[in-house]
Amino acid sequence: MAKSAEYRSIARLYDILDLPFEYARYRPLRPKIWIGLSGRILDAGVGTGRNMAYYPDGAEMVGLDLSGPMLKRAAACKRRTATAVDLVEADITATSFPDDSFDAVVSTFLFCVLAPELQLPALVELARICKPDGEIRILEYAISANPIRRAIMRLWAPWVRFAYGAAFDRNTEQYLPAAGLELIETRYLHSDIIKLLVIRHA
Ligand SMILES: C[S@@+](CC[C@H](N)C(=O)[O-])C[C@H]1O[C@@H](n2cnc3c(N)ncnc32)[C@H](O)[C@@H]1O
Repeated sequence: MAKSAEYRSIARLYDILDLPFEYARYRPLRPKIWIGLSGRILDAGVGTGRNMAYYPDGAEMVGLDLSGPMLKRAAACKRRTATAVDLVEADITATSFPDDSFDAVVSTFLFCVLAPELQLPALVELARICKPDGEIRILEYAISANPIRRAIMRLWAPWVRFAYGAAFDRNTEQYLPAAGLELIETRYLHSDIIKLLVIRHA
């Protein structure tokens, strides 16, 4: 199923299904992702707008998503938080933004949703639209090195694939050199299963 179709069906339930994880895992780490960023920033795969409360003060924010229904929920979130953000419906592998449009690009749990063959095109597009001295930050899942935690993740994987079209083991880092990008730092923000990749142009 195309991602736009998947997220059309799930949009209504997304926030409820994800609520336990949002509270237990994601909410404490979301503010950390935005620290030190300023200027014009893209939230790629904005979803229902869960990062909005943590956008840097004074930043010129753009939220992009492939799914109209998810963007509709993001628009409702925007009204509740009074956050200034432009919402754009587009595919991250082929946007219409001019080159060097953003001072920084951030994506949270987007690349786990992108199939392997879309990882490189998406990174190439991020490299194109992010300024040469800009930073790209990608928050993603990783498979734990701990055998028990890893076994639990393997048990969850079919549900995550079915409900969100996502996988824990995308290993997005492997595509960076081909996209002309360089991994500056990997920061684990929740145990060894949620990592922030800090990326720049090579
Ligand atoms: C798991 S959700 C994450 C949402 C949000 N970033 C968060 O942290 O809660 C993934 C989002 O990526 C969007 N998405 C999937 N494929 C996409 C694509 N090719 N281009 C843009 N957005 C896409 C989905 O519609 C969905 O809203």
